[in-house]
Amino acid sequence: MKQAPVYFENAFAQLNEFIQTHSDKKIMFLVDENTHEYCLPILLAELPEIQDMEIIEIPSGEDSKSIEIATQVWISLSELGADRNSIIINCGGGVVTDFGGFVASTFKRGVKFINVPTSLLSMVDASVGAKTGINLNHLKNQIGTFTQPEMVVINPDFLLTLPDKEMLSGFAEMLKHGLIQDVNHWKQLKKISALNPENLAPLIQASVEIKKAVVEQDPTEKGLRKILNAGHTIGHALETYYLDHQIQFTHGEAVALGLILESYIAVMKKQLSLNDFEEIKSVIDKFYTKVDLPKAEQILPLLMHDKKNVGKEIQCVLLDKIGFCNPEPVNISIAEVDLAFDFYRNN
Ligand SMILES: NC(=O)c1ccc[n+]([C@@H]2O[C@H](COP(=O)([O-])OP(=O)(O)OC[C@H]3O[C@@H](n4cnc5c(N)ncnc54)[C@H](O)[C@@H]3O)[C@@H](O)[C@H]2O)c1
Repeated sequence: MKQAPVYFENAFAQLNEFIQTHSDKKIMFLVDENTHEYCLPILLAELPEIQDMEIIEIPSGEDSKSIEIATQVWISLSELGADRNSIIINCGGGVVTDFGGFVASTFKRGVKFINVPTSLLSMVDASVGAKTGINLNHLKNQIGTFTQPEMVVINPDFLLTLPDKEMLSGFAEMLKHGLIQDVNHWKQLKKISALNPENLAPLIQASVEIKKAVVEQDPTEKGLRKILNAGHTIGHALETYYLDHQIQFTHGEAVALGLILESYIAVMKKQLSLNDFEEIKSVIDKFYTKVDLPKAEQILPLLMHDKKNVGKEIQCVLLDKIGFCNPEPVNISIAEVDLAFDFYRNN
């Protein structure tokens, strides 16, 4: 399935051109309070052609991906006069692009939307691939659609105001892209000395191209797209565990930790070499602070909930080597997870 165009060079000019050809349509901007303050003014300054626009703000954070907030936004759209021809521009991190895509794809049976990602994670991951969604109680992304935006507009300058911990969060997905598909991308990333927009900007496009190529081949996750879940089986379970225990832990920190733990399991299964594992661990250790792990059995119910599981087995995609992930999920046991946790605690 053809993916929406992702613009880097002259990205704002592309958006401006789109707006000019839709000058009779109402444009609805969706932001959270941070992107309203830091990003929307930059974006609006680049779009002088807009004639009819409204701004809808949602609270920042994962809790906004709820049916209650979606209902409020549907009502606001309706009250502000949005119709089937209106265009929603999601200007924000992954919460805004996931949520905004969902709201747009369901309002009046679907209106056009554009993603303008402003966090590193949404640039390299969330805004590309057509997955939209909200959460159901504590379970992430349970309700959603596969809907393509009209375009994705990437400008790394937005990262100048992004907090460091959010930069680290997106960087984990970039590392994952290198590990699963492209050893050269990995080599570039591991050379980075500090995570700042200047160092990262030249590598964002390569990361997006990797994700885009994977989802183009397998848009609905029947096979190859599963490799994007590397590090996510254990990572997601830990992310939920820490959130449930009011411990601040970003998605990317969880993915980075998951990549170490799942790679260790790949070594135990003789799928990945020890050399490659040690390289992966040393690069991740360079950027991410060590954390206290719970007992493996404490995350077992969360592991059992993973979307890749079949029946009662925990399933996981594992690396064969740096630059190649096997898309065929393998069963992992709680004993293997336990051994990986022990290794991490002691090293
Ligand atoms: N659809 C997908 O394929 C996909 C893939 C990965 C993640 N996701 C989703 O993405 C979400 C996480 O995205 P995220 O990490 O971007 O979180 P987020 O949207 O909550 O953004 C993180 C924080 O950074 C702030 N922020 C964003 N851009 C900023 C900027 N330029 N300057 C200052 N502050 C800024 C936000 O207000 C927020 O406080 C999760 O809900 C996850 O499920 C979706």
